[in-house]
Amino acid sequence: MFTDVAETVASHLDTAQSLTVITGAGVSAPSGVPTFRGPQGLWKNHRPEQLATPEAFASDPEMVWEWYNWRRELVAECQPNAAHRILAKWSSAAIPATIITQNVDGLHERAGTTGVIRFHGSIWELRCWKECDAGVIAWRNTAVPLDPLPPRCPYCNELARPGVVWFGESIPTDVLTKSLQATRCDVFLTIGTSAVVHPAASLLHSAKQHGAFTSEINLEGTPSSGDVDLAIQGSADTVLVEIDRLRSK
Ligand code: OAD
Repeated sequence: MFTDVAETVASHLDTAQSLTVITGAGVSAPSGVPTFRGPQGLWKNHRPEQLATPEAFASDPEMVWEWYNWRRELVAECQPNAAHRILAKWSSAAIPATIITQNVDGLHERAGTTGVIRFHGSIWELRCWKECDAGVIAWRNTAVPLDPLPPRCPYCNELARPGVVWFGESIPTDVLTKSLQATRCDVFLTIGTSAVVHPAASLLHSAKQHGAFTSEINLEGTPSSGDVDLAIQGSADTVLVEIDRLRSK
């Protein structure tokens, strides 16, 4: 079904000395994790500014934590899909792929990818809301459900916050630096993202400037579709399985 276009990507991968992939919610969609935009998306029934901003948390931390606790419960029931598994395989290949993800669900790691660059953080990490000395460094918390809710900082007992990047917040400098370095690659794939949230969506342009062959895999067209060398319409899991099948190494 995708064989022609998948073959093109596979042949670029066969000769590439470096591969970088950026993933979005569409990669976790086949696992049952809701996306943000679109008819079934999380932003259909919730306004981002009421749940995913520092202002929202300051005015109603209980409501924000209820929402993150619900998402943690939902993701805990989901399993990585074939897209996560293929990317995990590629990330440990002789020429390892660098995986940058906007997803906070941890499914790449659960599929076995190490060194994931988590562009928007992780719902499995918490930080001190008051930024106390020890609590500025995120700690892992995988309790489902969270107890107590809202959780507290173990160092100063103030409120803890989700270890994610909210709207209006900056991407941590080290994460941005590593991501930009990874755009110096031979092949750059953008998979399952609506490509409307920056700076994540801008990484594609950086890769193009460095001369990468670029391809998008998405169920539908996005603002990036016209900018990539090859836009493939299809589900991330199906298309990646096909590309992987056609790779010669
Ligand atoms: P979106 O929900 O904006 O977009 C998901 C994309 O995945 C859409 O373009 C869909 O067409 C596509 N898609 C859905 N199912 C797919 C499948 N099976 N295979 C391939 N593509 C599929 O999610 P993101 O682009 O990840 O940020 O959103 C970017 C950021 O906006 C998120 O990280 C989050 C959100 O607000 C923050 O919370 C800071």
